[in-house]
Amino acid sequence: MRVIAIDGPAGAGKSTVARQVSTATGLRYLDTGAMYRCVALAVQQSSTDPHDPESVGRIAHDVSVVIERDAAKLNGVDVSQEIRSSEINGIVSIIAAHTPVRDAMREQQRRWIRDHQGGVVEGRDIGTVVFPEAILKVFLTASPEVRAERRVGQTGGDIQAVAASIAERDHLDSTRIDSPLKPSPESVVVDSSNRTIDDVVAEIVAHFEKVDHG
Ligand code: CDP
Repeated sequence: MRVIAIDGPAGAGKSTVARQVSTATGLRYLDTGAMYRCVALAVQQSSTDPHDPESVGRIAHDVSVVIERDAAKLNGVDVSQEIRSSEINGIVSIIAAHTPVRDAMREQQRRWIRDHQGGVVEGRDIGTVVFPEAILKVFLTASPEVRAERRVGQTGGDIQAVAASIAERDHLDSTRIDSPLKPSPESVVVDSSNRTIDDVVAEIVAHFEKVDHG
């Protein structure tokens, strides 16, 4: 399967880079973070305790989550805006740490790749756990200051509060037991702090062309 895995922390530029790599390579784009965000929204809507793995796992198993290039749908409703709220930022890494949730999402991600015959998939555990056989693995990162500034540029908000929220998610994502955020040993590590998006995309596409054509 032609899978390009792009993992990394919040604000590293994964979504923007992955979309452009998708356009350049003709591979479809999948944002796995949006899947976890949809489950977090369902948890919030049903007033379920995000810390309860069993109840949250049942929700993850029962809801319909469909991620398209420009829309995220929860039970058929477009929730693209709602899943980016600060409340969802506050609970998504809690619900994403539960194994029953991860099992349900990973199964859907693997099915999506089979149906689309490959893709550019961005997340936290794509190269390490979901698609260890990906032909290219990228770990995209940037300094905490740059990541906070970028997020404020996208969504607004107070820089200190945004930096604290990102740091909290970084901590939860990288210390959880099930598939923590970390670079796969085979990944190309790209620090986007002082580079343009075009430059980063060009580097990834060049790596892909090398491995794709042998
Ligand atoms: O866009 P941003 O980088 O802020 O986050 P995201 O990619 O939308 O992911 C939101 C959250 O979902 C992350 O902080 C992780 O807790 C979780 N996630 C995960 O656990 N595994 C993935 N493959 C993707 C996201």
